[in-house]
Amino acid sequence: MQGIGAYPGTRDFLFKDYARLEYIFNTWRRVCKKFGYDEYIIPLLEFAELYKAKSGDELGSKQLYEFIDKGGREVAIRPEATPSITRAISRFYKQAPKPFRVFSILNFMRYERPQSGRMREFWQLNVDIFGEDNVLSDIQIISIALETILAFGPSQNSFRFYINSRNLMEQVFKALGLDFSHYKPVLQFIDRFGKLDSNEFKNQLVSLRQNLSLSKNTTDFLEKLYSISFEKLSFKEVVSQVPVFAKVDAIFELQQVFVHLSKDSAYAPFVYFNPTIVRGLDYYDGIVFEAFDTSPSNRRALLGGGRYNTLGHLFGIDSMSAVGFGKGNYTLEAFLDNWNLWPKDLEKSGVTIFVPILKGMKYSDYTVLVRSNEFTKALEKQGVAIDSLHVVLGTKEMGVTQALRFAAKRGYDFILFYGTEEATHGTINIKKL
Ligand code: HAM
Repeated sequence: MQGIGAYPGTRDFLFKDYARLEYIFNTWRRVCKKFGYDEYIIPLLEFAELYKAKSGDELGSKQLYEFIDKGGREVAIRPEATPSITRAISRFYKQAPKPFRVFSILNFMRYERPQSGRMREFWQLNVDIFGEDNVLSDIQIISIALETILAFGPSQNSFRFYINSRNLMEQVFKALGLDFSHYKPVLQFIDRFGKLDSNEFKNQLVSLRQNLSLSKNTTDFLEKLYSISFEKLSFKEVVSQVPVFAKVDAIFELQQVFVHLSKDSAYAPFVYFNPTIVRGLDYYDGIVFEAFDTSPSNRRALLGGGRYNTLGHLFGIDSMSAVGFGKGNYTLEAFLDNWNLWPKDLEKSGVTIFVPILKGMKYSDYTVLVRSNEFTKALEKQGVAIDSLHVVLGTKEMGVTQALRFAAKRGYDFILFYGTEEATHGTINIKKL
């Protein structure tokens, strides 16, 4: 097995790397629990069909880790949580009181080219509400998405949160006279805007216009969207620059979202209306959003989500309203690096006491000792609460000098000596290092 490295696009998390990941998970979990969301776990493996139907060409096919199991079934490693949690909730959706507020922190696999911010295995927070179609539930999900970034203490210009609506885009397409069968390729083109320079944009627009016989109205609209710097404009300003928005109903829902979010001064500096955010996944059908680090070195999204009321159809439920988001660990880690947001004492979680095995003693003398009331009392005298204490028991016999040197090198806070003499007199000798 010599020379076998980790599988491309996967990573081991040990020590400092693990501490960073744990800090992220703890922060996410704290926010979700604070807002009353329940944690869940879904299986690692699903029938491949689950993703093929609605996750889009990328996730549902090109990026899917799929194989035939020993029983001849077509299965896939989960690339996302949304289809699985929708399936799980659909089993009791009709009978149970709604809404369901749920979250998970799990790993996923996608066959992508490993690059900055993109790995084949990554960890993702998913937060969703099922059974509530009111715009206030979209607002709640967006506010929790914001809270999961704000909890890391970012500064005002460090990230932007872009909001749009698939409904709005579809109503605009209709108003522009676009053929329904062309909605998807046009949305896919808009989804690529961020990656295209102006020449690429022009070339792709020309070929799209020819292939789909797009009207001048539609190409003008696309050119306008491509040309605007949405991060410089307020909601109202965008609507005044793209007048077709004011002509369709869906703009009112979006307006409500901005009215609520802009009234909270913690959220207001970060939220923007950006109609080029349409999301790559097929199942979205309402409000959609993504957040980005403003640092150019961290270009991929910090998080993304939206409403997907029709995904429940896959499981035989006509109206199963749902809205949520997913947020990965890698772009967030880069964000925390860029803006210097990691806590200083990340690896140090609590007070540590080293308990060396002294000559003439048995291992069981120490397991009995650390369970005893005398041990708790001796620590209390040092001002240390037992709950926050890490007891590092030695794994080889040591002399006192050797133990002191070892403990100092490791940066432990205390050392406890319990040798034959202490055992005879019933004393415990604790030293602060
Ligand atoms: P997504 O946009 O595919 O949405 O992923 C959401 C987030 O997961 C991304 O913004 C990114 O932070 C992270 N992510 C995705 N793929 C990778 C990768 N290959 N490497 C590293 N990080 C990655 C979804 O997955 C939807 N299911 C989210 C959702 C939940 N929508 C509603 N509820």
